Amino acid sequence: MASNSYAKQVSIFEVGARDGLQNEKPVTTADKIVLIEGLAAAGVKRIEAASFVSPKWVPQMADSADVLKGITRNTGVTYSALTPNLKGLELALAAGADEVAIFGAASESFSQRNINCSIEESIARFIPVMELAKANNIRVRGYVSCVLGCPYEGKIAVSEVARVSELLYKMGCYEISLGDTIGVGTAINARKMVEAVTSVVPVSKLALHFHDTYGQALANILACLETGISVIDSSVAGLGGCPYAKGASGNLATEDLVYMLHGLGIETGIDLNKLALAGNKISQALGRTNGAKVAQALAV
Ligand code: HMG
Ligand code: MG
Repeated sequence: MASNSYAKQVSIFEVGARDGLQNEKPVTTADKIVLIEGLAAAGVKRIEAASFVSPKWVPQMADSADVLKGITRNTGVTYSALTPNLKGLELALAAGADEVAIFGAASESFSQRNINCSIEESIARFIPVMELAKANNIRVRGYVSCVLGCPYEGKIAVSEVARVSELLYKMGCYEISLGDTIGVGTAINARKMVEAVTSVVPVSKLALHFHDTYGQALANILACLETGISVIDSSVAGLGGCPYAKGASGNLATEDLVYMLHGLGIETGIDLNKLALAGNKISQALGRTNGAKVAQALAV
């Protein structure tokens, strides 16, 4: 397909402060605030800043309320939070989240390990979350995990990915983020999966959320851009993984994604040098090198 099928602009949904830091060794609340403010200063408009899940399950996110309350907010930036249930949403609302996300899976085993219930139970649990969010004029994003494979079940049928995506969309999620949780996908499979989902959810309502475990995320995103998709989740400095998906590495590094998109002539509104600086700072706080190849090359 010709490159003119690509969107002119791509909206980057930055998940480093949540998906990234939930699976790194703990950093201070102040480090998280510096990261989030640095991302906003680089021009990132959508930042997942917090996660109101059980602190027994994910202790790294236990300070989420302090993070949301502590950041100096930029106009035009959306600061969002994960909310697996009503309790999570109540905490997110009290802390001032601009929007929230529910997260389901296309794999029964992953659903059980990640949120301690079946897919159907999770959908039932999300209904009151959607209702309370609507009553508070808060938009809800929906994640579907394991869209290209599951750490426990292996291959996942695209029909199941489409089914769960459609359920979340029909419940009222404004956008469905398709998660390759363990980064096992390859380009043609990724595109076929997105095409299958577009038969039930408009492509304008879909986002890609690809972890980079096997180093395929950039290639997979490029293949999926041909479907016209225009929202991509990524994690500055390639931070993270998933605590309930052993061996999963972080999402594709935002620096690497932005470099590719700008090279394709696709606008993101992000200043790459400032982004790499934000990535370098949090990497220093973690005592490791920035996992983005582009950040290493820029050496800002
Ligand atoms: P559960 O044990 O079944 O829940 O866990 P429960 O309702 O029976 O509650 C048990 C305890 O948790 C109680 O406390 C509750 O108050 C507390 P206790 O009485 O024992 O002291 N609790 C909470 N505390 C804080 N915030 C809450 C909350 N809810 C209950 N919201 C639950 C169910 C969903 C809570 C648990 O399984 C959980 O927290 N899971 C989250 C796991 C997680 O965060 N995974 C990573 C995020 S998902 C991801 O990374 C994938 C994604 O990136 C996409 C992709 O890559 O594919 C999104
Ligand atoms: Mg993820």
